[in-house]
Amino acid sequence: MESPTLAFFLIFFANLLVLMRVFSLTPQKNDFLECLTDQFESSYSVIYTPNNASYASIFQPDNLRPASTSPYKPLLILTPFYESEIQAAIYCSKKLGIQIRVRSGGHDYEGLSYTCENPFVVVDMRNFRSISIDSEEKTAWVQVGATLGQLYYALAQKSRTLAFTAGVCPTVGVGGHFSGGGYGMMSRKHALAADHIIDAILINANGQVLDRKSMGEDLFWAIRGGGGTSFGIILAFKVDLVTVPETVTVFNISRTLEQNATQVVHKWQYIADKIDENLFIRIFMISVSSPTNYRNRTIAASFESLFLGRTHDLLPLMQEKFPQLGLVEKDCLEMSWIESVLFFAGLHNQPLDALLSRTPQASFTQNYFKGKSDYVRQPIPMHALRRIWGFLNEEAENMAELQFSPYGGVLNSFSESETPFPHRSGNIFMIHYVVRWDREGNAESERYINLIRRIYSYMAPYVTKSPRAAYVNYRDLDIGMNNQGNNNTSYEQASVWGFKYFKNNFDRLVRVKSQTDPLNIFRNEQSIPPLPESTSWQIIPRANVLTE
Ligand code: FDA
Repeated sequence: MESPTLAFFLIFFANLLVLMRVFSLTPQKNDFLECLTDQFESSYSVIYTPNNASYASIFQPDNLRPASTSPYKPLLILTPFYESEIQAAIYCSKKLGIQIRVRSGGHDYEGLSYTCENPFVVVDMRNFRSISIDSEEKTAWVQVGATLGQLYYALAQKSRTLAFTAGVCPTVGVGGHFSGGGYGMMSRKHALAADHIIDAILINANGQVLDRKSMGEDLFWAIRGGGGTSFGIILAFKVDLVTVPETVTVFNISRTLEQNATQVVHKWQYIADKIDENLFIRIFMISVSSPTNYRNRTIAASFESLFLGRTHDLLPLMQEKFPQLGLVEKDCLEMSWIESVLFFAGLHNQPLDALLSRTPQASFTQNYFKGKSDYVRQPIPMHALRRIWGFLNEEAENMAELQFSPYGGVLNSFSESETPFPHRSGNIFMIHYVVRWDREGNAESERYINLIRRIYSYMAPYVTKSPRAAYVNYRDLDIGMNNQGNNNTSYEQASVWGFKYFKNNFDRLVRVKSQTDPLNIFRNEQSIPPLPESTSWQIIPRANVLTE
């Protein structure tokens, strides 16, 4: 054999050996399965592998956008029933270096509970969904896999006046929602879901099951608004419930540009956060066909409202503070609080058990979507509102939407550092930008995502600055991301997005993370990073942190 051929074969076999080694070292599904089996001599409750017929229906991504671009699908989906099964998953994740993604309701805007840039397994908490209500004490233990609809339904079974303050969409999961704040129609009166958490059960990176007492007040502070994922797997929250009147009033009235929508939206900014805290009025703005000329497009601004009282008290209040809307008695509907939950969920007049479904209505997500958020402290001038209408009219009807959600009321009575959620006094309202589409394709996605980014960019002068604040539950990877592959995110890098979500609370979150999960077992693209051991506690002064 001639020497060049020999050299070729030697190189070929060397490469083959390297490849074989790489593949045998890359932890795979079977390693995880073996590890779990070692932990459980009998068998783990339910594990879905890609070979199972029901894997696809269990995987079912809420937002197809991140799912369609993710390089991996979960190696396994675990749907544990017992704490010990979650402990085993954490153990195997550490042992094999395979990341865990935790999913409760699966509504993460960027799909971080079911996508990952590295091989990963999903711990899906759907079987941890029991709800235990103490009507006397006005408290409830709610497991994280329950949805908001299931919680509201359970409350309605107990009493007409026992309620909870959290988000509007019934299929949102308690686990992610409470972890990031949880804002809804009663937030001006009763603040956020996270503001009502009085105890919790969490499994930490060492597999210990902790409650409020054993986790300590720092960690307990961090999990009440610091975003899901970073501090462990939460199993349940204990919350203080709220009391509502037997009868509440709702309305949803729309004004187009021909009906002075611009002036009415403009005026709303002067009353939204200051009006009686029993009254919550938010606005949805979309592009629609003009009612006067079908060839033209206009903007419909829908004013959706919950008043914790009767119509006869609402009308004089509106007449005094917001006559521009022109609310009249026939616009108002009186009902119980739980009926109002159905009303705002788009399930008006449907039976109560519609709240138990875990499948979102198509209109809520429309398969592919991208969201962003902002906070407003000074009213947006009329000319800027008109420019926003121009953006909304660029795409087909109903594809892009802006929501203005009022702040003020009891949200102002919390200091910025009381919980990790810092968006308190001084905010008039939050903007939620969302764009939805229903067809796959890069060109399609790019066009819509580009539109929402252009609106967001245009809005910069009119919203909070240094940092440009954002709501962690409307997760947006455009505002910054951790390194993925090498688990090596610096404090500086995470600060770019971290101060936007948490303002100065970010530093305390980093300290709690460094103490509780120094190896960064629980991580994703926007999880709180631990400080490297050598630099523990040496946080860089705020002024050196890059923010938009
Ligand atoms: P998901 O399971 O995807 O979890 C979200 C994040 O938390 C992920 O990073 C996940 O890993 C982590 N996580 C989940 N469970 C965990 C656990 N047990 N332990 C540790 N980490 C965990 N928000 C709002 O404030 N008010 C509203 O009215 C609405 N409405 C709304 C409607 C619709 C249609 C959507 C898609 C979203 C909303 N949201 C919202 C936003 C919602 O609050 C946010 O997406 C929540 O994080 C969703 O929580 P899930 O448990 O459903 O998501």
